[in-house]
Amino acid sequence: MKKWRLDFRIWHWVHATVILGLLGTVFLRKTFLSWRTNSELLTQKLSEINIEVTSDQAKTLATAIRAPMWEWHIILGYALAVLVVWRLLLFFTPSGKTNYQNFKEKTLYKKTVALSYIVFYAVLLFMAITGLTIHFYEALSLTKDTAHDIKELHELVYNAVLIFVPLHIIGVIVAESRDEKGIISDMIHGGA
Ligand code: HEM
Ligand code: HEM
Repeated sequence: MKKWRLDFRIWHWVHATVILGLLGTVFLRKTFLSWRTNSELLTQKLSEINIEVTSDQAKTLATAIRAPMWEWHIILGYALAVLVVWRLLLFFTPSGKTNYQNFKEKTLYKKTVALSYIVFYAVLLFMAITGLTIHFYEALSLTKDTAHDIKELHELVYNAVLIFVPLHIIGVIVAESRDEKGIISDMIHGGA
């Protein structure tokens, strides 16, 4: 039997792509498509062609430029919510349990890795619930202030995702080059 069944591998790589996509949208929102930077640029450039705009008008323009990109945060957000549910279902399959069995016999390092995955899944569940709540706050009869507070939490916990992703990638590369040869290719072809 393969270590990683095909459905688990598909889940892993689709999930990795979606998480990187979500991080990409956040990166763009905070850098090239930041409304603060772009509203200043718009104000300056429009003034050069003798069009004066108020800061509110410049902000409206800058957020309109950002909007089509940010739609991808929501689309990928829906995908993430589905992937979290899919992962929960995978816990009922042998591949989904692999990292969490015979816990006592694991080395301290392997215990930490397994625990970090569980913490990461809890973080993702939180991100999916808070993200969907902010998006549907009106339908959920929440006030704008409450939605804003939830957004602050969503943004705070985002840092955990930002930490996990590089650590995980470095971790599996180090494992591959030391004592766990084939760990990465196993996640591609399934392993023995
Ligand atoms: C955003 C990117 C990624 C995320 C969010 C992610 C997430 C995860 C998670 C949560 C697990 C644990 C699976 C389980 O429950 O057993 C896992 C396992 C694994 N991932 Fe990733 N992954 C990402 C990218 C990558 C990349 C780029 C590689 C290869 C270079 C990779 C290689 C692996 C391997 C080899 C395992 C199995 C490790 C083990 O047995 O402990 N992942 N990944
Ligand atoms: C790994 C998962 C996720 C990460 C890392 C993430 C990250 C972030 C960050 C950093 C912000 C704040 C952006 C800013 O104000 O500068 C944000 C806002 C937001 N996210 Fe997520 N998010 C994730 C998942 C989701 C999901 C699943 C949804 C649900 C559809 C979602 C919907 C939203 C919404 C609606 C906002 C508020 C946007 C606004 O104020 O206009 N996010 N997200």
